[in-house]
Amino acid sequence: MANPHILHVVGARPNFMKVAPVIRALAEYGSIRQTLVHTGQHYDFNLSETFFQELEMPAPDVNLLVGSGSHAQQTAEVMKRFEPVVLERRPEMVMVYGDVNSTVAAALVCAKLQVPLAHVEAGLRSFDRTMPEEINRLLTDQIAALLFTPSQDGNDNLAREGIAPSRIHLVGNVMIDTLMRMLPCARARVPAHLPDQFVLVTLHRPTNVDDVAWLGHILRLLARISESTTVIFPVHPRTRERLAAAALTGENHRGLHLSQPLPYLDFLALQTRATVVVTDSGGIQEETTFLGTPCITVRENTERPITVTLGTNTLAGRNPARLCAELERVLSGARKRGQVPPYWDGHAAERIAAVVHAAF
Ligand code: UD1
Repeated sequence: MANPHILHVVGARPNFMKVAPVIRALAEYGSIRQTLVHTGQHYDFNLSETFFQELEMPAPDVNLLVGSGSHAQQTAEVMKRFEPVVLERRPEMVMVYGDVNSTVAAALVCAKLQVPLAHVEAGLRSFDRTMPEEINRLLTDQIAALLFTPSQDGNDNLAREGIAPSRIHLVGNVMIDTLMRMLPCARARVPAHLPDQFVLVTLHRPTNVDDVAWLGHILRLLARISESTTVIFPVHPRTRERLAAAALTGENHRGLHLSQPLPYLDFLALQTRATVVVTDSGGIQEETTFLGTPCITVRENTERPITVTLGTNTLAGRNPARLCAELERVLSGARKRGQVPPYWDGHAAERIAAVVHAAF
């Protein structure tokens, strides 16, 4: 085909650093036309536009402006607003990223309209179907014609689910492509007066922040740690709402710094220097593994097991004693040393682009 048209769909913060290198790599094939659709699932400047600026991405061609809502509302709204875009623009292929509601919504629209779908970051499984992301991953992978996995466990999971091997391509981690490209800029953003030791925290999963008793436990633990070690905690809007509703603040603790969500480069800068990162994010488990920074994940499971088996990640579960013990262990100098997984080498998007180009 002379000029295939690829339409990318993104919607939430973790999507943006994944699409950026793919757009760049596909642009190297001058023959491919590209359209970028933002669903508007994330709309705050700090969660969306700042990423487009810092990653030097083209502005979205279309913004569906779906905003927040229940899972059903949000997914349905993306579907309703995305369908006419596909009908009008008639792409040869749609590419979706990660596991957010926008990902599965776009995938379902493509299935109904019989437009071939490619899924970047396919095959990851937490085996925990109470997580909305796990359902999004399972359904998107069943629909996709091309599945790009970041690590071998993804291939194994897809094979077990009966996906034909010819559709699966182990390409590596596109988020690490972006990280490697942006690392020099991030290093230049390291704040001048950072303490030698500090804990960097992000929490936004419903299992952590919607349970007020558990969120209170975590905040009190961080407050106690902050008496001897600085704690930096950029707060996701969902978490901010829950903290406010429960009247939980870190105000009385000078070492505990709560802030707005940080732009990509500032957060990456802090990850390069943190003594330990405490998180429930998927992407941050991967970024810390690449950077060699110890990571404690406040979850019972992870869809990214390679960050535990090979990388610097430790699962603390939802257990206060374990979380406290893990933190104290790392702060006393016992760091987990890891390795960078195969194909997390800055060239994943090029491998994806080669497969996509060859498909036409
Ligand atoms: C979503 C993804 C999650 C991902 C996370 C990264 C799903 C099911 N979840 O979770 O996998 O790890 O993004 O951040 O897709 N809000 C704002 N401003 C915004 C966006 C959201 O204030 O720009 C607030 C709203 O109150 C909203 C809440 O945050 O109701 C949750 O937003 P939503 O997009 O539903 O899910 P996230 O928790 O961000």
